[in-house]
Amino acid sequence: MHFNGYHHITNTVTGGRTDVEFHSGLLGLRNVKRTVLLDGKRPFYHLYYGNQYGEPGTLVTSFAFGEDRPLGRQGSGQVRSIAMSVPQDSLGYWSDRLASRGVAYEEFELLGERRIRLHHPDGIEYQLVGVAVDERLPWTGADVPPAAGIRGVHSVMVVTREVDELDMFLKEGMGLVHRDSDGSVSSYSMANGRVGQLVEFDHQPDEPQGSWGYMRNTVDHVAFDIGDSTAQLAFKDRLEAMGFIDVTDPRDRNYFYSCYFRTPAGAMFEATWSHPLGFLKDEELDSLGSSLQLPSWLESQHEGFLAELEPLD
Ligand SMILES: [Fe+2]
Repeated sequence: MHFNGYHHITNTVTGGRTDVEFHSGLLGLRNVKRTVLLDGKRPFYHLYYGNQYGEPGTLVTSFAFGEDRPLGRQGSGQVRSIAMSVPQDSLGYWSDRLASRGVAYEEFELLGERRIRLHHPDGIEYQLVGVAVDERLPWTGADVPPAAGIRGVHSVMVVTREVDELDMFLKEGMGLVHRDSDGSVSSYSMANGRVGQLVEFDHQPDEPQGSWGYMRNTVDHVAFDIGDSTAQLAFKDRLEAMGFIDVTDPRDRNYFYSCYFRTPAGAMFEATWSHPLGFLKDEELDSLGSSLQLPSWLESQHEGFLAELEPLD
């Protein structure tokens, strides 16, 4: 078993419309699915953004809680930033786009790559990383030129106080390989080590623990694509055999199947494989994300949910 790369990254945010405006309006990602968080009794949006099909590895998603959940505390044991891949020569386009819209940003370099840092309206850090080769196709339905379009997830950065057990967990548990270091940051890779197969860890031994749980200015979890059910169960068995029993049974998330596991760094990861039809399971390609979609076991509550949810259009 091995991980193929990212599947999706999930934020906890406040407003649904604000979230759509950031991911689709500013970053030019396609809103490929509009559904609800499948845990708990009350309806909260779960919004998915990615390329045309919402392929694994292009996906960023958000739980939109309105004011229902508290604001979180930034710190260790969390994902600090989400980095998306853009063509190397498009960074100028992106800085101009952000400046023209009054979005604060800064340019910097890390692990030999030029990057732009910006923030989601709820404060979550995003990065645009200039990459020479990324063969994933961007969504072309937004107002971002295809030559500058986001190709997918580049990496996430996890802040960690401890590194020894984490290093063992990543290598022996998840099958990752240490790739590079830059100051306090270490990069690990999976599969072929391409863009979208990299995870970064910032070792901050004195940084207090950040919030866990649904806090509406934090990244909730990071999902990696493990291919199929057999590999997912083998991975769960492997973690448990190592003594890491904080790993859930597979859960049906309608479009994919998820095992959640807590890393020694504190951040929550997920081992995931997609339903064969993915997001085309319940919508046509042209109309992905245009209306609320619910799994069969919630469909009887459709009208009630719509009445409670914030209008997005
Ligand atoms: Fe997830």
